[in-house]
Amino acid sequence: MVKGLCILGSTGSIGQNCLRVVRGLPDRFRVVSLSAGRKLDILADQALEFKPKLVAVSADEFVEPLRGLLEQRGYREPVRIVSGSEGRIEAATLPEVDFVVSASHGITGLLATYEAVRAGKKVGLANKETLVVAGELVTREAERAGAEVLPIDSEHCAIHQCLRSGSRAEVRRLILTASGGPFLKTPARKFDAITPEEALRHPVWKMGGRITIDSATLMNKGLEIIEATWLFRLKPSQIDVLIHPESIIHSMIEFKDRCVLAQLAVADMRIPIQYALTYPERVANDGEPLTLDFLKVRRLTFRNPDVKRFPCLELGREAIEKGGAVPCALNAADEVAVKAFLEHRLPFSAIPRVIEKAIEHAPSNPFHSMDDVLECDRESRRRAEETIAVFARSFN
Ligand SMILES: NC(=O)c1ccc[n+]([C@@H]2O[C@H](COP(=O)([O-])OP(=O)(O)OC[C@H]3O[C@@H](n4cnc5c(N)ncnc54)[C@H](OP(=O)(O)O)[C@@H]3O)[C@@H](O)[C@H]2O)c1
Repeated sequence: MVKGLCILGSTGSIGQNCLRVVRGLPDRFRVVSLSAGRKLDILADQALEFKPKLVAVSADEFVEPLRGLLEQRGYREPVRIVSGSEGRIEAATLPEVDFVVSASHGITGLLATYEAVRAGKKVGLANKETLVVAGELVTREAERAGAEVLPIDSEHCAIHQCLRSGSRAEVRRLILTASGGPFLKTPARKFDAITPEEALRHPVWKMGGRITIDSATLMNKGLEIIEATWLFRLKPSQIDVLIHPESIIHSMIEFKDRCVLAQLAVADMRIPIQYALTYPERVANDGEPLTLDFLKVRRLTFRNPDVKRFPCLELGREAIEKGGAVPCALNAADEVAVKAFLEHRLPFSAIPRVIEKAIEHAPSNPFHSMDDVLECDRESRRRAEETIAVFARSFN
């Protein structure tokens, strides 16, 4: 059967890799809808190539410019152009959509992903923020609607694969691997001087801005602990993190009998994307083969994360242990702090301090609705901006 796809975040790093996978498997997928922010040139090219029925842009002001670009390029197919949150929800819930790739920035794809789950669509989740901020609501609705949520994050995809050889009840612990980012060997005294340009140079992965900075602070791994807790229904204390700079083992499971299963592959997001898209099948792709050459790898090394230099990792664990609104506040504060760092308004070393402050204030009672989630997100962003303003005054 040809699967109808919706890609939320089609112009981003994951979105573009997803379309490369689809290009290599033309008989398996039809792109029904695309959603993006403001990169209209890329979006227009994608529409020309994949001929979706509907395209969603982030705001009304982009509808006519996109239509203009499509006309200029001689696009003759009927296409609806919609905008905003409503537009993304429509893109993700069209009857022809079987599978939604959730890869939008931050929480911009949250409501669309939630509605897709409620509509019983299969969801490939790259966007970890969805489960970080609303894990309980999303997993409850997925269970109710019988919607399958498949991880695209490479670590969680690795765990999903390892779990095919044992049950969740047989798991002793998960071992999420981390490359360690660009500052693995940088002493803490140099953290104040780290520039956005240095932090954006990830040694292994090419990704969007926020996740690249989150990888440099290890917040990304903190968010992944939260994501894994919801995806695999384990306790945070069952999830360990190990630094593995070669990024060949994408994560492991230690089962109760102490046998460990690991998933290995080259560090390329097309592998977890294709795994999710074609699950439960494994298929060859006509595109460039992504073969792991053990003779080139030669060595796999491991070390414990340094939680003193990288406190964000444990802030993630603390947030999910406290539960309720705390992970949502953590995520909002992190996004605001990362933006301030990229705009040279906050030093790298102060990112964890902004997050710490945000989670101090967050209530640990559960959310009852998406409105509660959005309200907590707004309030936490406001508080984080206040904290940053106080820091800015003390640095000037
Ligand atoms: N990149 C990776 O290797 C990787 C790995 C694992 C997990 N993830 C997760 O996947 C998600 C996406 O990551 P990414 O690296 O692909 O990010 P990215 O390159 O920054 O792409 C983000 C996408 O979201 C769109 N977007 C931004 N603001 C929007 C808005 N207001 N409304 C609608 N769409 C909007 C962007 O559109 P425009 O570009 O058109 O503005 C773009 O298509 C994140 O949650 C990340 O943590 C990524």
